[in-house]
Amino acid sequence: MNASTFLKASHKLMNIPIKNSEDMVHMRVAGKLAAEVLDMIRPHVVPGVSTGELDRLCHQHIVEEQKAIPAPLNYNGFPKSICTSVNHVICHGIPSNGRILKNGDIVNIDITVIKNGFHGDTSEMFCVGEVPSHAKRLVRITQECLYRAIKVVQPGITLGDIGHAIQEHGEANNYSIVREYCGHGIGRIFHEQPQVLHYGKPDTGTKVAEGMTFTIEPMLNAGTRFTKLSKKDGWTVTTKDRRLSAQWEHTIAVTGDGYEILTLRPDEHF
Ligand code: MF3
Ligand code: CO
Ligand code: CO
Repeated sequence: MNASTFLKASHKLMNIPIKNSEDMVHMRVAGKLAAEVLDMIRPHVVPGVSTGELDRLCHQHIVEEQKAIPAPLNYNGFPKSICTSVNHVICHGIPSNGRILKNGDIVNIDITVIKNGFHGDTSEMFCVGEVPSHAKRLVRITQECLYRAIKVVQPGITLGDIGHAIQEHGEANNYSIVREYCGHGIGRIFHEQPQVLHYGKPDTGTKVAEGMTFTIEPMLNAGTRFTKLSKKDGWTVTTKDRRLSAQWEHTIAVTGDGYEILTLRPDEHF
């Protein structure tokens, strides 16, 4: 490798913050709080509720019960405290009082909290009432992709191995993988290095090391992988073909011999 390639590569490496055991204590607290918000909101995700109401409930819980900060609020101008992405919305859906959930909808609720200066980021798909089996299958396979990706995490693997685990399982089930949005390093900063792509080739890309903390948050589409960003609000990302999309997210810490899921919910069967 020549000097400029080396500089680029080392620059990239140096930009991946490694957490010490004290940082890790804070990351565990933040992750646990983010997971608890999903448990809190679950019973409220029913036909007839608006995504604006879900946002208010989460905001109140985070600020008043958890004494924490909802990270999305005012982040690069985002106007609400959580993201709610319904049906063909891939991610970054803005909660609103006019968006009423109805029987058969699928909705991703994405929670990021800041506690003691550290971030925890996690999202879950919720089925509203009775959901058609094709939608349930998309939701299930997307969660399986997340789980398979987490299970490969250990020091010495590459980010390509993580992306590959997702791409392989998603595409084997005839879904497409969104490429424009990815997982990310997380800590004192919401989105830091590295970028965690949800597709890739084994044994390629940045090496994973103990002390890294990052999210894995695959987005799978029923139809094409192509996306459209709303010109109206500048945030809402939808599938180009308006077919369904699903996403699940966890914040992960790389340990000496594997991983720790910082946002694992107590009732979650991993
Ligand atoms: N929580 C999202 C993620 O997983 C980011 C939301 S940024 C916002 O990275 F501004 F849209 F809230
Ligand atoms: Co998130
Ligand atoms: Co994230």
